[in-house]
Amino acid sequence: MGKAIDWNKIEEWNDKYLIKCFCTKDEYQWTPIERTEGDYLIMPDGTRLLDFFNQLYCVNVGQKNPKVVEYVKEALERYGFVWDIYTTDYKAKVAKIIIEDILGEYGWAAKIRYTNTGGESVEVASMIARLYTGKPLIATREHAYHGVTGGAVALNRVYAGRSHLSGAGPDKFVRQVPGQNSGNAFVCPTPFCYRCSLGHSYPECKSCGSQLPCVLATERMILNHGLDQVAAIITEPAFGAGTIMPPDEYLPQIYEMTRRLGILWIVDEVLMGFGRLGEWFGHQKYGKHLKPDIMTVAKGITSSQIPCGAVIVNKEIADFMDTMRWNHVSTFSGHPIALAAAQGNLEYMIENNVPEMAKKAGEYFGAKLKELEAKHKTVGLVAGAGMFWQVELVKNKETKEPFVKDDRYTGFAGDLSANPTGIILSKCIEKGVLLGGFVPNTLRIGASLTVSKADMDKAIDALDYALDYLDTLV
Ligand SMILES: Cc1ncc(COP(=O)(O)O)c(C=O)c1O
Repeated sequence: MGKAIDWNKIEEWNDKYLIKCFCTKDEYQWTPIERTEGDYLIMPDGTRLLDFFNQLYCVNVGQKNPKVVEYVKEALERYGFVWDIYTTDYKAKVAKIIIEDILGEYGWAAKIRYTNTGGESVEVASMIARLYTGKPLIATREHAYHGVTGGAVALNRVYAGRSHLSGAGPDKFVRQVPGQNSGNAFVCPTPFCYRCSLGHSYPECKSCGSQLPCVLATERMILNHGLDQVAAIITEPAFGAGTIMPPDEYLPQIYEMTRRLGILWIVDEVLMGFGRLGEWFGHQKYGKHLKPDIMTVAKGITSSQIPCGAVIVNKEIADFMDTMRWNHVSTFSGHPIALAAAQGNLEYMIENNVPEMAKKAGEYFGAKLKELEAKHKTVGLVAGAGMFWQVELVKNKETKEPFVKDDRYTGFAGDLSANPTGIILSKCIEKGVLLGGFVPNTLRIGASLTVSKADMDKAIDALDYALDYLDTLV
């Protein structure tokens, strides 16, 4: 199969020529992957790593799903590449599948525009919101993550998600990108009940009034900026990089607020879309009556086998855009090979009801995680659904004292060896299991949506082993 690969040479070129992310050159740990299969990454020496962060929570139907592979091969033979002005069957069919077959019954989705990445989807969604309303501002939330391109990064508020540099030395050097624009966005409170930034406690805060205090404060922020200035609010259904599950009342109340104030609701489904929370789209978990004005997707649209994203808009926006010439294109948007991957992926998801598979897997996995929460003194909270789980690591369950004081406001500078997430990740690797986490005190766990029970058990055993070790440190 294939050509012989000289992995010594690969290591040399990797070291010499590639700029690394999240570590210095010296900190980099060489992890060659020769191929993938389902939920596994396979190294050149045959070591199989069980992937419970699903390569950034995006290989929804598992690696190399045969239907996706078949469609991509066919598209490569038929097309190669034609740009977005031409129609391919894949492009039109995927639009029909998403708007009619998946979203049709909810009655809001009208048209789609393809992109190449999640960040670009957010960029285009913000652009459409501003063009449609003629207003400049977009409300975002603490701990939000929306991508790394200029407009998307301006909406990021999880501190570590703004493409900054951080020092590995003792001086805790942090440099944000000079001149990076965040002028057309403003930040509202986050619905993170475990550590409420407004000082409230859930569920007691529900009796403060008809709105949760974080929603009320969001509304006040929007009104302070002025309804003549605010185009939209953007929300992830659950926070991906920030890793937070909001309370059930939050999104319905945000939706109600947007209807009352007359601002657009952009739902960023880049990570939660296509089944991750056990529904086709994450916002549907909080109420089938919730109707986004604009929705962004990427990752799961192709199970990430080929880069692809999209922006889906409601009828009013679609009608408005139909009357204009939109001077906007990206060379690769609507790429036939990417859309072939999307078609194979979505047909597989529909035929096998993959969101339901995720829901069932989540019920099993969540119950196992809850057992670990009860057993281990360093687990303060387990929350999640489907194949997306948040595990808060604490020094003390009663006081909720975190290991890393700055929590979601850290710049990841200096010595990171005491970060509990890093400790757990390393211990799990000893057992051949990969977990994830973007903030220092919080694990972010999620495999493919088609993961097996045996692999869920294997991941739980590894985490149990790692938590046994973490418990000895407090
Ligand atoms: C909610 C959300 N939006 C946008 C993005 C950016 O997507 P991409 O990395 O494909 O640009 C991400 C990435 O993780 C995400 O989680």
